[in-house]
Amino acid sequence: MVNILCIGDVVGTVGCQFLREKLPGLKRLKGLDLVICNGENSADGNGVTRSSIQHLFDSGVDVITTGNHSFRRRESYDLYEEVPTLLRPANLPPAAPGKGMCVVDMGRVQVAVINLIGTLYLESQRCPFETLESLLKAPDFPRLCVVDFHAEATGEKRAMGFFADGKVTALFGTHTHVQTADECILPHSTGYITDAGMTGPIHSVLGVKPEISIQKFVTKMPTRFELAKGPCRMDCALFSADEKTGLCLEAERLSIV
Ligand code: FE2
Repeated sequence: MVNILCIGDVVGTVGCQFLREKLPGLKRLKGLDLVICNGENSADGNGVTRSSIQHLFDSGVDVITTGNHSFRRRESYDLYEEVPTLLRPANLPPAAPGKGMCVVDMGRVQVAVINLIGTLYLESQRCPFETLESLLKAPDFPRLCVVDFHAEATGEKRAMGFFADGKVTALFGTHTHVQTADECILPHSTGYITDAGMTGPIHSVLGVKPEISIQKFVTKMPTRFELAKGPCRMDCALFSADEKTGLCLEAERLSIV
């Protein structure tokens, strides 16, 4: 059995610190073999920095995925070339720095991790369905494969789940920062959740102070976002897979406070 934890968008320094507090204990408790987390908001004010990704790796994360904020900071461009386990969506233009897939060699088994971005209500990109299909065609593709589909629309995510069913071990959604209660094993044995949720302040609007978010909606004026304070939680999904078949045997939704 291979236990793979998929953590929802980590927001800012508060989210990174909370993850560091909670992940090591969860790793021991659940016997985690591989940890994937979406880190595109791990730097304060979105994007990634050298120190934000280092914090996540030092806390026990193996692979960091991103999404629409991958290249929010100019300083991060080189990081995507330098760090093979820091991914940007695979369906971005080929000229974008970095890669959308990596293979983690765990000794007894290899696991491919693929990052994709949706096309609804986000900047238009290459078709994520076609991109996934072509990546999976590679010779000697690992039996185990986990996909982070960073997308806004639940319909697009669920369609992608069924598209990937039987072809990958698990597919989890990110980006909305709100955990969905639809974790399951799809008919052809792929583990699935529409959105893993968020790692950050509970009383917030996607991590931001509610009063600032309200002000933006009411005034329609540009607003400087500020992270909320107070208690945090770490939303994630745990997929347990058969290493011989690559199929998912259990899907568990977790929200650690
Ligand atoms: Fe996002």
